[in-house]
Amino acid sequence: MTKQIDPCTLVLFGASGNLSRIKLMPGLFRLDAAGRLPDHMVILSVGRGEVSLDAWRADVKSMLDAKFKNGYDQAVFERFIARNHYHANPPTDPDAFNKMKAKLSDEKTFPQNLAYFLSVRPTDFAPVVEQLSAVGLLDESKYWRRVLIEKPFGTDLPSAQDLQARLTKHLKESQIYRIDHYLGKSAVQNIMLTRFTNAILEPLWNNAHIDHVQITNNETLGVGDRTTFYDATGALRDMFQSHLLQTLALVAMEQPKDLTPESIRTEKIKLLESIRPIDVSNLNKQAFRAQYAAGRVCASDGHGENVAGYLEELKRDGVESSNTETYAAVKLFIDNPRWKGVPFYVRTAKRMHEGNTAIAIRFKKAPMLLKDDQHHNWLIINIQPRECIKMEFESKIPGLDIATRTLSVDGPQRQKDDETIDSYETLMLNLMEGDPSQYLHINEVEAQWRLVDPIVKAWAQDKGPVHQYRAGNRDPEESKVIFESEDQFWRYSIELGGDQH
Ligand code: BG6
Repeated sequence: MTKQIDPCTLVLFGASGNLSRIKLMPGLFRLDAAGRLPDHMVILSVGRGEVSLDAWRADVKSMLDAKFKNGYDQAVFERFIARNHYHANPPTDPDAFNKMKAKLSDEKTFPQNLAYFLSVRPTDFAPVVEQLSAVGLLDESKYWRRVLIEKPFGTDLPSAQDLQARLTKHLKESQIYRIDHYLGKSAVQNIMLTRFTNAILEPLWNNAHIDHVQITNNETLGVGDRTTFYDATGALRDMFQSHLLQTLALVAMEQPKDLTPESIRTEKIKLLESIRPIDVSNLNKQAFRAQYAAGRVCASDGHGENVAGYLEELKRDGVESSNTETYAAVKLFIDNPRWKGVPFYVRTAKRMHEGNTAIAIRFKKAPMLLKDDQHHNWLIINIQPRECIKMEFESKIPGLDIATRTLSVDGPQRQKDDETIDSYETLMLNLMEGDPSQYLHINEVEAQWRLVDPIVKAWAQDKGPVHQYRAGNRDPEESKVIFESEDQFWRYSIELGGDQH
């Protein structure tokens, strides 16, 4: 369903940063090419330095050239580049926001509905909003004004609440768009649709039939040049706190009464709030952390590559020691009738043997067991790199004997000519449409921090050496301590065979 977008100006703070270069500008260009931007839609890029309009447009062109190596439509380019404007907002200029207001007051050039995309340091979220408000640029009496806040929204519950308090002095909840780019992924959006637009799943989607659920994000990449950020953050806060808990919410929530943003968010909030708080006195049975050591991973060109360990990477940057986890696995229970007793194992790791994000659901034992180690039924919803849904079940091996083997029915979500859309494209469109359903409500953010904070705190207090795993390997054996039963094991990529320890 194509929604109507009002004429608007997208004000992009941090426009020369990496996110903007790699995702946002190319994403806006693709939205333009797809005919999804209204005629009167303008992009005002805001940066620290003085740059002439021509130089900025040349820079935007270089971003597109870098992204679309096979070229792009010249007519779309002309239209897109004409939408682009630049404004210098040096942090040292006390009058900077007044100047921005003066610039935006040119109504012929800049539509007055304003969407601010804050791709800036988290410590700048509140100050930017305060300054926009001080010059009247958040006033909604005649036009809408929306603010997109990049992640992370706080670094724990108190800081998230503090940020929220500062923002809501100037903004209504309906004006705040807290982004989690996982919610813009087509395969993540497909979770809810698969669950509720099919009749066969709902009757099975509960503790009577499901043995356990695994939600996994494994990456082959290391922390790269983000050592300072990562060391202060860790896997739990970087991936688990929002991306993976949001994924879990979509897997486990009740059916929303309709597809309005309110209904979807209401069910996600209920679900997140019904996750049982972690019992820190028994943390070792519920959460496991580790750090990658030197090893060998599969590089993007398919070749093996020797890589340094996390602590060595930190040392290069002058950090002598660290207990920050690059691997985190957590067992969660949901205290509601549907999920009572079903463990949800949620894990994320850098420098694993494969990059894969998936939801793997194992069903209970079959009513007829022909052998002790008969494969359970699994339903795998693979998010990336392949978007597909796979069902595994037992089927007779043709022949004289009564024996079964596992059959895997693989449904690719993506067909040959389907578009590939980056999550930021979808989410920027939703921002301009005024559809917050794929953005986080503050109650979701708070519930997520409430769950994560005690683990972060307990791990910070535990000064013992952190378990090491070799880069390029599978989960450390020791991580299995969180499993509820001995026949549970980590599920890997979607291929059958080689998927078990
Ligand atoms: C980011 C994290 O939010 O998500 C990164 O900061 C992580 O550490 C990334 O690599 C994963 O996103 P995606 O879309 O590549 O799965």
